[in-house]
Amino acid sequence: MTALLVKNIGILQTPLGSHSHKGREQGENQKLKNAAILIEGGLIKEITSDGKLPAGKADEVIDAEGRLVTPGLVDGHTHMVFGGYRQNEIPLKLKGATYLDILRAGGGILDTVRHTREASKEELLDKTSGFLDEMMGFGVTTAEAKSGYGLDLPNEVKMLEVINELNESHDMDMVATFMGPHATPDEYKGREDEYIDMICKEMLPYVKEHKLAEFADVFTEDSVFNYDQSKKYMQTAKDMGFLLRIHADEIEAIGGSKLAGEMGAVSAEHLISINEEGLESMAKGGVTAMCLPATSFYLGANFAPARKMIEMGIPVATASDFNPGSCPSLNLQFVMNLACIKYRLLPEEVLTAVTINPACALNRGDKVGTLEVGKQGDLVIWDAPDMEMLCYRFCSNLAAKVIKKGKIVK
Ligand code: NIG
Ligand code: FE
Repeated sequence: MTALLVKNIGILQTPLGSHSHKGREQGENQKLKNAAILIEGGLIKEITSDGKLPAGKADEVIDAEGRLVTPGLVDGHTHMVFGGYRQNEIPLKLKGATYLDILRAGGGILDTVRHTREASKEELLDKTSGFLDEMMGFGVTTAEAKSGYGLDLPNEVKMLEVINELNESHDMDMVATFMGPHATPDEYKGREDEYIDMICKEMLPYVKEHKLAEFADVFTEDSVFNYDQSKKYMQTAKDMGFLLRIHADEIEAIGGSKLAGEMGAVSAEHLISINEEGLESMAKGGVTAMCLPATSFYLGANFAPARKMIEMGIPVATASDFNPGSCPSLNLQFVMNLACIKYRLLPEEVLTAVTINPACALNRGDKVGTLEVGKQGDLVIWDAPDMEMLCYRFCSNLAAKVIKKGKIVK
């Protein structure tokens, strides 16, 4: 077993615990000064502070030179597997077309579906692996990824296999989410109910049987899937043992966040237009709010009421939503800046929102998301003395060194 020692850490800042829902406050962070951390066999063996060094022997030593160390970041919401790009939408948007106008006209997600269906699995593996390298370079060590650009069984399976194979071959820990109901494919146009039926009867059982995804997600939105269609899908998925998440209230509040609370979803995502009823339902149901501020930025939309959510006891996570349409950026550090400036989250609340809260929402709270003995040795050494600096500087990459399970990956 090889051991890595990171010493001379100015501040080691981390949330504690493995549950975002149970009595831990959003901004509750431990800050250790003049700290060191010993990682052995990929797991954290010892953490020391105040100039003391771990007792265990190390094969390799990194001097953090007095800088900030945090847990590796967790990106809890991405659509990183896709064919093509959608830069063609820029002029349409500048001429006034909205996100839903483009989708209703057969573009948007459906355009990416055409390119994803055309792409071979090898092409998708290659492209996504490049994105994972880039994400790790920004300090992300665990990432969720969804299907949802196949919209038929072979292509949804192709996407999920890409995610599962990368989980094995790449250093990134990946969590797979099935999102068959991301849009209605051309061949089912105007027959949304039948498409949902087919997903419930054919796709969900296949995905379950072949253990291709742990989570099931749906785009509950005006002109996409309504409350009843979403509920039917979520109930079927839940009965099969999938954990649930839902794209809710991104553009219109049509009951998505309410449904999240009623169905006991692990998380509800976007929540830009959430109303009082949705907030109460999420608080009651213990649903994590997966807020996606870079998408608000890119759509020129409002920002989710994250501050209010925290006040109501809803755990807030912030993620990239990296996808070719509404957010073609995978930079989680920019998301942290936006969480601070637009959501008014304090630096310590931001850290919780990109570490333990998304880790819990990905069902990985016992393994990643904090720096504690026994958890995975996933951490970032930042070119910064404190969290304030990370929230303050923007559009530079401040991740100096990234360590995944005790291995230096940047
Ligand atoms: O989370 N809203 C639905 N899905 C993605 C966008 C997907 C796309 O436009 O390709 C989102 O924003
Ligand atoms: Fe999304």
